[in-house]
This record gives sequence, structure tokens and C-alpha cells, in this order.
Amino acid sequence: NQSLRNLAMRHGLHVGTAVDLAALNDTTDPRYREIAGSEFSSVTAENAMKWESLEPTRGTYNWGPADELMAFARQHHQRVRGHVLVWHNQLPAWLTSGVADGSISTTELRQILRDHITAVVTRYKGKIWQWDVVNEAVSDPWDTPSTLHYKGFWAEHLGPGYIADAFRWARAADPKALLFYNDYNIEAFGSGNPADDKTQFVYEMARELRAKGVPIDGIGSQGHLGTQYGNFNTFQVSAALKKFAGLGLATAFTEVDVRSQLTEAVQAGDSAEINPRLQASAANFSVLMRACLSSPHCLSFTLWGFDDKHSWVPGWFDDPPEGLATVYDENYQPKLAYHELKADLIYS
Ligand code: G3I
Repeated sequence: NQSLRNLAMRHGLHVGTAVDLAALNDTTDPRYREIAGSEFSSVTAENAMKWESLEPTRGTYNWGPADELMAFARQHHQRVRGHVLVWHNQLPAWLTSGVADGSISTTELRQILRDHITAVVTRYKGKIWQWDVVNEAVSDPWDTPSTLHYKGFWAEHLGPGYIADAFRWARAADPKALLFYNDYNIEAFGSGNPADDKTQFVYEMARELRAKGVPIDGIGSQGHLGTQYGNFNTFQVSAALKKFAGLGLATAFTEVDVRSQLTEAVQAGDSAEINPRLQASAANFSVLMRACLSSPHCLSFTLWGFDDKHSWVPGWFDDPPEGLATVYDENYQPKLAYHELKADLIYS
């Protein structure tokens, strides 16, 4: 059958999706589960493996939803990308407030992080293909200061050394999982876009980690693109993948979606405005897919959700409103981007 997963297998590539556990369990909407199981050979929990979901109360782990995803993956012969061990967002309130009010010291915070990584990686030892160990640790040009730097809760409280620590602790807990650094705006190099600098910064970071013997295996490039932003070509995306491969690292596209502005005409269903967006969206998905297919080190291509009904985009970008970011519409009709990905898998 011509599912994305079967077509990708001919290239030794895994096509994955982020999974919304509430949607997966919604018995009134069985198509979600069917598509998640049949089209993809890899899954990622969109939220269920984040710290606030796993340990909402200090010391009490809620493994239920994450375990459900693991069971689903097993049932459908899918690999799992673990997401995410260390990130500054979606941390439990007990942790951030404890640090803010001084009841959790720096020494204790480091131990808490170590214990968390050990607990989560051990729980799923041998069952996770790739772990996003550290996510989004690097600033963007629009942050202050604009010079790229290590940003966020962990760098502020523990200093950038937490990155090397996190990889070492993850490796100790599961020596077989591939350990990834994951970020956005590192999709391309040589595009002339300011994102070039972030790609270079992450490259230098990875080079230093490798030089120090830190166990990092791969770079995850999220791939949150937009049709209204400057677009990359395959050559520029390949250039970024090649840089990372040159360090002996695997790569993966980990959160691909391509959002568009929802003008009033788009929202009113005006095909003269919708069709060019669908076309541009398909072209952007295709650029990332073709670059991945052209690199033997690009292991997987994961969509950040597959349908517009459950996409994070409309909830996040509402001024101006954005959407149409995935490969199926709100009624699970495949869009041009879906067919384009298939064409890339068939003809590359
Ligand atoms: O679970 C609560 C629910 O109880 C509550 O009623 C509801 C009300 O707002 O919120 C629910 O939590 C939401 C959660 O998703 C689960 O649906 C949060 O508000 C919402 O902020 C959260 O958004 C997630 C976002 O990360 C938060 O950082 C998105 O679903 C998720 O797609 C997104 O994923 C990130 C990757 O992890 C890292 N890279 C960027 C990517 C997109 O932002």
C-alpha cells in the first residue's frame, strides 16, 4: 500500500508524526487513530512526555498518557522519538516556583534535573529510538541581547554546562537510544537569512560537545516553516544537513509544518487565496523532504501533527491568524502537501 510510511521505507527513512493523546483516545473521531497508525512509522508525543505532564506534583509521576503512546507505537510497529527531556517550557509549576522563591537551590536543581532524566529515560529504556535530550537552548536574533547565546531557565540557573550533563545522564540511563539536540531556525545554511547564524551556532556547540566526548548522536531540525516567510531551497537545507553530518552526527526533521496567514478571504473559503497557500506549503514540505532524502544521515521526517483540526498553529498564532499548517485538512482530506511528499518519496 502507498502510505507515506511504506514509500519512505524504500529509502530506509521513517516518516513520523507528533501525536495528541486526547485526539488518539477520542472515540468519536476514529480517523485520527487510523491515520496515525497507518501512515507513519514513527511517533512523538506532542505533549505527554514533557515534564509538566509527567510530574505535575513533585515526586509523583503520571506515566499514563506516555505509556499509552508507547503501547500504540508497539501495536503499529512504530519507532518512538522521545520528546523532551530538558526544555524551558512546560515545566511543572512546583519546579519553577521553587526556584523563583529560593526553596530549590542551584545544587538541588541540578540533582532534580539529573533525577528527572534518569527516571524518564530508564522508564522507556530500550524502547526509544531517538531522544530529544535538550530542546531550544539557543536564542534567536530577535532576543535581547541579539548576539546568539544560551537562553532560558536552565542556562540561567545552571549555566550552559547543563547541556553536556544532560547528554551524559541520558546516555548512562539508556546506552542504545540516539541522543539528539533539537531546535528551530537551523533548517538551512547559506540562505542569507539570519537563521544561518543560528545554524552555525548550533554547529559550533555540537562540535565542542563532540570534541569533549559528550555523547550526542544527532541534531533535530524542527522545520516549523511558513509560506509568508523567506523560503529555503533544497540546496540550502542540504548544506545545513551536511554541516552536521560532517561532525559524524545523524540528523532528523522533527516537527515539520508549514503555516499560512488566514486572511478573511481564506477564512471565507476563497480558493483564489487558498490554492496558492496550499501550493507554497507543499513546496516547503518538499524542500525539507528532498534534502532529507539526499542525505544518508537524515534518519527521519516527522510532522508536527498531520491534520489541521489538531494542529498547534491556530491556537498559537492568532494575531494575525495562521493555520493550514499540516498535510490533511480539518476533515482528514489529504492536501497537496501530502501528495507532494508522496511524489518525492516515489520519484527521488
Ligand atoms: O493540558 C492543558 C489543559 O488542561 C488546559 O485546559 C488547556 C487550556 O489552555 O491547556 C492545555 O495545555 C496546553 C498543551 O499544549 C496541551 O494541549 C497548553 O495550554 C499549550 O500551551 C500547549 O501547547 C504546546 C506547546 O508546545 C507548548 O509549549 C503545543 O501543543 C505543542 O505542539 C508545542 O510543541 C512545541 C514542541 O514541544 C517544541 N518545539 C516547538 C513546538 C511548537 O510550539
